[in-house]
Amino acid sequence: MSGHGPAIPMTSRKCGPLKGEARVPGDKSISHRSLILGAMAVGETHITGLLEGEDVLGTADAMRAFGADVERVGEGEWRVNGVGVGGFAEPEQVIDCGNAGTGVRLIMGAMATQPITATFTGDASLRARPMGRVTDPIALFGAQSYGRDGGRLPMTVVGARQPIAVRYTTPMASAQVKSAVLLAGLNVPGKTVVIEKEATRDHTERMLAGFGAEITVEDTDEGHVITLTGQPELKPQSIVVPRDPSSAAFPVCAALIVPGSEVLVPNIGLNPTRAGLFYTLQDMGADLTFENERTEGGEPVADLHARYSPHMKGIVVPPERAASMIDEYPILSVVAAFATGTTNMPGVHELRVKESDRIDAMAKGLRAAGVVVEEGEDWWAVDGMGPEGVRGGATVATVLDHRIAMSFACLGMASQKPIHLDDGSPIATSFPGFEPLMAGLGAQLVRTNT
Ligand code: S3P
Repeated sequence: MSGHGPAIPMTSRKCGPLKGEARVPGDKSISHRSLILGAMAVGETHITGLLEGEDVLGTADAMRAFGADVERVGEGEWRVNGVGVGGFAEPEQVIDCGNAGTGVRLIMGAMATQPITATFTGDASLRARPMGRVTDPIALFGAQSYGRDGGRLPMTVVGARQPIAVRYTTPMASAQVKSAVLLAGLNVPGKTVVIEKEATRDHTERMLAGFGAEITVEDTDEGHVITLTGQPELKPQSIVVPRDPSSAAFPVCAALIVPGSEVLVPNIGLNPTRAGLFYTLQDMGADLTFENERTEGGEPVADLHARYSPHMKGIVVPPERAASMIDEYPILSVVAAFATGTTNMPGVHELRVKESDRIDAMAKGLRAAGVVVEEGEDWWAVDGMGPEGVRGGATVATVLDHRIAMSFACLGMASQKPIHLDDGSPIATSFPGFEPLMAGLGAQLVRTNT
């Protein structure tokens, strides 16, 4: 997996109205966690709606390597027979997490307090990403790690033989770091405490409670204080994975910028720690409504109804909203290009260390398509060109980043001239079926040179 396959160049052209229903895949964050917690429970966990993208399939393979029995029984339907907290076997081979930061960081946390050693690697994108943010806290439990310079993969983690409970304040707003510490805390006697100053996605906390762990969350002056009592017996669950709001963002945003469009995106998880993009779009004047709001499997869910919105205006996106839409800034920058006025996006330094430097990647491609973008270390701003004003006519680099690839594909759907993607293959990490789904709505996104 770490060897990247052949590039798949794609071209996205201006299209007629996007119409119809977009059934997007299962939530990536929840899918990873379902497999990992299923592997740490005693007995059989049943999962439906699992995202079968490359990232999550890598986590399934990893859980097998640590001794769990993981089986696909139908489309999106999986069974995991767990080994129990503290029951991981030592993998015989290197764990290759491909492109998945969530996969590698959560699994490192989960194994860090078990008496085993594992070596992790990934693709060129993942090998460039910082792992110190996880190896620092797991060292407090007693784990050791040996990676490349700057705390990069490949990296070997030696789990703590006699782990001790930890109280840890996350230095950056990161659900991956928070989750790695909580998963490490599972196999430790006593209470592990994680404090986060800004709330990040809380799927790990919700799911740990669902699996029967004792976990409390308090809002204090210090921040969000999460306390987990170690060494529970996790009870297997039946998990229905909601559809991914981060994937829904693409058909929703494409509908807002392509004239005449009207798209329904049903069953989208609207956990408040994930839904920031949709509120931001509404603040910009998008014709976007939530229908049939309900709760499913402990997560708020709604159907999203998006219609072409030629009167959107640039805004300052509140920085305190950043964590709840961190993966959606690339596609927001595309929408911003079709609004009038400037969209300012402050407080987003974490975008620099995602699957790519997402500010840099989007700024380069948008500028090549005729859009004015300004940037600083932790902010960027896009000047709106109006609903029909983006020139396009550019070849853009997708830099091994699925969300960059899908964002530029959407840009091409409403630009005057086509957008060429140097490589659309990263899309498969989180949204297999993106091309036929968008084509079914009316997009003209085709593979070129193949
Ligand atoms: C994720 C957390 C976020 C997000 C990523 C998924 C998770 O990363 O960008 O796509 O599932 O915990 P950070 O923890 O680095 O913010």
